[in-house]
Amino acid sequence: MTRRPARRSSWRRPSLRAAAVTLAEASATGTVGPDLDQVLQGKDAAFIHESIVNPEAEIAPGFTGGIMPATYGDQLDDQQLADLVAFLEQSVNG
Ligand code: HEM
Repeated sequence: MTRRPARRSSWRRPSLRAAAVTLAEASATGTVGPDLDQVLQGKDAAFIHESIVNPEAEIAPGFTGGIMPATYGDQLDDQQLADLVAFLEQSVNG
């Protein structure tokens, strides 16, 4: 993973944005994961962060564990994770 200046939002990276947009679209049609607009209602950044790096910590109602990859904590650096969490948190909680 290439290192970039910490202050520049990695959310601008098309690859990272595409990953979550794809997820949102897949979730919205109920194919694989939960509708994040629903399950993340009222959840704080700490919960969202935990749900991404350790998906088994709490399983969304109606789903089973072992489907969502538990590798995002390794694949994304701290800045990317923080951007992703902030994006999701703002998307669902305004
Ligand atoms: C960057 C990509 C992803 C993000 C940000 C993300 C985010 C999340 C979050 C926040 C939850 C927790 C919901 C809750 O516990 O209330 C969740 C659950 C889930 N996700 Fe993902 N996800 C991603 C990728 C994926 C992929 C690629 C799959 C399937 C191959 C997947 C399948 C699931 C499933 C089945 C659940 C429900 C079970 C559980 O709570 O662990 N996700 N996801």
